[in-house]
Amino acid sequence: MSKAPKRLRSQDWFNNPDNPGMTALYLERYLNFGLTREELQSGKPIIGIAQTGSDLSPCNRHHIELAKRVRDGIVAMGGIPIEFPVHPIQETGKRPTAALDRNLSYLSCVEVLYGYPIDGVVLTIGCDKTTPAMLMAAATVNIPAIALSVGPMLNGWWKGERAGSGTVIWKMREKLSTGEIDYEEFMEAAAASAPSVGYCNTMGTATTMNSLAEALGMQLPGSAAIPAPYRERGQMSYETGKRIVEMVREDLKPSDIMTREAFENAIVINSAIGGSTNAPIHLNAIARHLGVPLTNDDWQKLGHKIPLLVNLMPAGKYLGEDYSRAGGVPAVVMELMKENLLPHPTALTANGKTMGDNCANVKNANEDVIKTVAKPMLENAGFINLTGNLFNSAIMKTSVISEEFRQRYLSNPDSPDAFEGKIVVFDGPEDYHHRIDDPKEGIDENTILVMRGAGPIGYPGGAEVVNMQPPAHLIKKGITSLPCIGDGRQSGTSGSPSILNGAPEAAAMGAIALLQTGDRLRVDLNKAEVNILIDDAELNARKEALIAKGGYPYPESQTPWQEIQRGIVDQFDEGMVLKNAPKYQAIAQN
Ligand code: FES
Ligand code: MG
Repeated sequence: MSKAPKRLRSQDWFNNPDNPGMTALYLERYLNFGLTREELQSGKPIIGIAQTGSDLSPCNRHHIELAKRVRDGIVAMGGIPIEFPVHPIQETGKRPTAALDRNLSYLSCVEVLYGYPIDGVVLTIGCDKTTPAMLMAAATVNIPAIALSVGPMLNGWWKGERAGSGTVIWKMREKLSTGEIDYEEFMEAAAASAPSVGYCNTMGTATTMNSLAEALGMQLPGSAAIPAPYRERGQMSYETGKRIVEMVREDLKPSDIMTREAFENAIVINSAIGGSTNAPIHLNAIARHLGVPLTNDDWQKLGHKIPLLVNLMPAGKYLGEDYSRAGGVPAVVMELMKENLLPHPTALTANGKTMGDNCANVKNANEDVIKTVAKPMLENAGFINLTGNLFNSAIMKTSVISEEFRQRYLSNPDSPDAFEGKIVVFDGPEDYHHRIDDPKEGIDENTILVMRGAGPIGYPGGAEVVNMQPPAHLIKKGITSLPCIGDGRQSGTSGSPSILNGAPEAAAMGAIALLQTGDRLRVDLNKAEVNILIDDAELNARKEALIAKGGYPYPESQTPWQEIQRGIVDQFDEGMVLKNAPKYQAIAQN
């Protein structure tokens, strides 16, 4: 354990006899809301509560309540709570996409943590991008930090069955297009999937990222999965408030916890939970801000062979309450540890103990919800990192390949893990909506759908649009998914086996920009490659022609931030971070 610092950084603001003028200026404004000189000058830790909840962020809004218990915990340990707002990020409500704002929220939180008298911080996490934004900021600033999950919503129920966030919408959209349900029923089912405060109750990006914040060691053990309305959620908030004060006294920083070992654990745990394809983007980003090397190759090497244990939608059948009751992240870790699959049980966590110590004696209360390694949901559940002449890197979540999909595309005895097809190319989501049902496109069950113009530059922040629904005439025939490939993302609550997060994107003149409808692609999952079946001379000619026209065209920015980010953002495989940001590391220590 690291030693306590001699003097807290907040004392540079509030108690600096060498500069009485500045000290007085800093002091008087914090005195004016009722704090006393004795509190501010006696070296009590000042603990920020980075508040991501607001009326604009319904997924995280319950943090407004939970922060009261966090404050109680901070005060109980002799700290001073200072709550501050974080730029809202709401996954489903923000146009054009919430991912646009992950880096904006990161930047603004860095400025707050660095520029104000804060000794340690509670990061309130929940909705998809709030978790990586907060962990990235903590990584850059590197003051003691602990994450507090808002917790998932209660299970949704519709017509006697579990209705999960997002997943129910993908399912009902198909039923709506075949006329099985009407508009009213569609809206009812959607509402039923969101029965309480909290984040999405499926294994989408929110449950993934909250679980991984715990897997990285940044939350108290068992914290991620507790549903938002449960009493334990309030109690966990109190404990988190208490613990951050101790962490400041111990000077236990993000760089002590989020080590390479912690990221390796998180990759393995991500496979076991069936985590979202957004996870590599966000974890690679956090790692870059810490200076920890991490690539999509690591995701395949460490994660692909790990079995899927957690039986949650979209890959399975249960929801957040079931996951929590079965034991949440610690029970998953315990199952992995029993078979020596957790690479680093000695990784340190926020409570000062190791991941192994925290999880070894935990019980798995329901082996149908959290499976054992001996009887998993699926073997080899991690991502593969595809390369080839189309992308330098693209991710595929093989655990969501359905039996129907496998039979249709992956059952050729000569090459059981490979398929080829003619492509139809769409330039962004609007183009897809216009053309998908047009009979002129000739889309049949052998077509591969390609989405481009959906990466961090082309559709600022990257659109979750790669999982494309087949045309209605195929759905009526029972074909509910076609192979989809693209330079965008897809929702973590979608169960489609797309090849996504493709880098470089079309807008960065990746080879996907050169494709034309009617070309053929070959996907080989065994070799982890996607190749354009066109010779290099033709591809080069297309490239020159496109450059002559000014490059791949994409829509104008609608806001200043879209324009700014487009000029300075890295590709998905690099974590979609702002290019110059990772050189600023551990800035509170410098
Ligand atoms: Fe916010 Fe899913 S939309 S958690
Ligand atoms: Mg999403």
